[in-house]
Amino acid sequence: MRRVVLLGATGSVGANACDVIRAHPADFRLVALCARTSRAAAEALAAEFGARAYCGDDAAVRAVEENEADIVLVATVGLSGLEPTLAAIGKGMDVALATKEVMVAAGELVTARAREKGVRIIPVDSEHSAIFQCLQGQQRGTVARLTLTASGGPFLDGPADLSSVTPAQALAHPRWRMGPKVSVDSANMMNKGFEIVEAHWLFGVPFDDIGVVVHPESVVHSLVTFRDGSTLAQLAPPDMRVPIQYALSWPERLPAQRQPLDLAALGSLTFRAPDETRFPCLGLVREAALAGGTCLASLSAADEVAVARFLAGEIAFTDIPNLVRRAVDKVPVRPCDSMEAVLAADAAARAACR
Ligand SMILES: NC(=O)c1ccc[n+]([C@@H]2O[C@H](COP(=O)([O-])OP(=O)(O)OC[C@H]3O[C@@H](n4cnc5c(N)ncnc54)[C@H](OP(=O)(O)O)[C@@H]3O)[C@@H](O)[C@H]2O)c1
Repeated sequence: MRRVVLLGATGSVGANACDVIRAHPADFRLVALCARTSRAAAEALAAEFGARAYCGDDAAVRAVEENEADIVLVATVGLSGLEPTLAAIGKGMDVALATKEVMVAAGELVTARAREKGVRIIPVDSEHSAIFQCLQGQQRGTVARLTLTASGGPFLDGPADLSSVTPAQALAHPRWRMGPKVSVDSANMMNKGFEIVEAHWLFGVPFDDIGVVVHPESVVHSLVTFRDGSTLAQLAPPDMRVPIQYALSWPERLPAQRQPLDLAALGSLTFRAPDETRFPCLGLVREAALAGGTCLASLSAADEVAVARFLAGEIAFTDIPNLVRRAVDKVPVRPCDSMEAVLAADAAARAACR
């Protein structure tokens, strides 16, 4: 029986995690959960699972500090995931990480703290779960390249000019039903840039050895190429319950809640190179990654503000990368060696972006 603390229980990942826990009552016990504003929904889940519910801006940290668990599933949005992740590591509790911005803004700090404490960070993102699964039983030092698959989002095949697409269009992801921030990040491929950074810190692979291929069917979730020329991939239906369940049950595999893939019914799977001219965010993240230090913390914070401004109708979809670039250029880059350094870059970038 694994005790779980679930941060962001009322969101898209949170709802899928609740489904997984509901389906496996003998394997998981939800001891605490949190939301920020959805108090009624959080309390209903707490009553269903016999868990403690926390709400408000400091809910995630309190849920970690006031409970003992075997694993903390971090599924809030943006930098709000950082402090509770560090708190969980500080208590020696393993972390199942959905909130990729934690690794984007502070991957160096988080992985160093986890190493010191002997805590495991297990990926929840479907792409990183795929890589994690392909690496099971492999020897260190044999990986030549990681390839992240990208669905391409709602604008893969048009319109050619993205300047007048609306928030409703950007939120209508063709394959995944997700929260608003990650949906917009997926629509302009900022999300895929973030995932390159996340993969770098989770698996210790240099940025130059992490590629992206567009795969609209979202069936191959990512691939690992080894030095002998073999490539392993993980395939599954596009359903977040698969990687969430694996993160919670690892190294065990529990029964699935739906039918596995039927490749003959699918018929074909397609792949193509990303169009970095229409989607400049990929290159933007790579540049910030090479600058290192707190540059990615600035970028992540600027993106949170820019996406919120796009969703509020204040800026165009194509203004997001421009606004983020200008904000990142204004904030000095410092070593990413403390939470204070990350928070300072975050605050400066938010101010620049507003
Ligand atoms: N959705 C996916 O399929 C998916 C896949 C891979 C990775 N991810 C990553 O997982 C994270 C969560 O995504 P999502 O789509 O589930 O987001 P979402 O649907 O917007 O849900 C966010 C959840 O976090 C809670 N929350 C937000 N800020 C909080 C704070 N400061 N303190 C405590 N709780 C807070 C929200 O509570 P309220 O309801 O009260 O606002 C809600 O429960 C993101 O980083 C995303 O990039 C998501």
